[in-house]
Amino acid sequence: MFRFFPQKEKYQRSTTFNFNPQGPIPQHVAIIMDGNGRWAQNRRLPRVAGHKEGMNNVKKITKQASRLGIKVLTLYAFSTENWKRPTDEVNFLMQLPVDFFDTFVPELIAENVKVSVMGGIEFLPDHTQKAVYDAMEQTKDNTGMVLNFALNYGSRAEVLAAVKSVATKVQAGDVTVAEIDDDLFSNELMTGFLAPELRDPELLIRTSGEERISNFLLWQIAYSELHFSPAFWPDFDEDHLLAALGDFQQRNRRFGGLNKEETK
Ligand code: FPP
Repeated sequence: MFRFFPQKEKYQRSTTFNFNPQGPIPQHVAIIMDGNGRWAQNRRLPRVAGHKEGMNNVKKITKQASRLGIKVLTLYAFSTENWKRPTDEVNFLMQLPVDFFDTFVPELIAENVKVSVMGGIEFLPDHTQKAVYDAMEQTKDNTGMVLNFALNYGSRAEVLAAVKSVATKVQAGDVTVAEIDDDLFSNELMTGFLAPELRDPELLIRTSGEERISNFLLWQIAYSELHFSPAFWPDFDEDHLLAALGDFQQRNRRFGGLNKEETK
């Protein structure tokens, strides 16, 4: 059955936004790239056509994010729950990193972007693992934006692994219970390879109009600003990113404290 998933016209090609090029830019942006399937269904195309278009959009948004001065871009490309999808779709998704890096590594190098990956990479097919590890190797000396793919990633599993790792260190006498704090725990998470000030996204974007976190970076988004865009991921273009950044710039980030004027 063909179902049409409506999107608000004004967001499909967003032309008005409050982005200020001189304003603050979030250092770490994370994106839940949702809506590939619906994008394809609206065009009477197979779902995988949406994933292919989604992959092309990753290229576009990566370049723009890097040029805007974002330091880390974390993209939710495959969750631990996505294995439940039909085999053909999973196989297609596992081929995407191969196609993506085959064609895009030279541009990543030209943009000085460094590739990283987090998740249960050892459970991915060999060709997918090879593609991501080759890309990491080829871009390891780049000093610009980190393009961090979450692949076979689930946040609860990540937190549990961190808890087990800390518990093992306590058992071995390497860490005392009193020493366990935010920094120590954050270091055990999959984002622990990033500099401490870059580990937590300042802005989390989810596309497609869904307003859920879906087991993504649960610890790390404690103080993130959330932006939900109605655009399906393949339609989320440069203007949509600027709109999300403009939205971020309007927010009043207090981290549980008060504004100066409120303390008077
Ligand atoms: C969610 O949309 C999207 C995914 C599960 C896959 C995301 C992957 C990409 C955007 C490409 C990644 C590129 C690389 C290089 C790894 P959905 O299928 O759940 O959409 P729906 O909610 O409309 O069905």
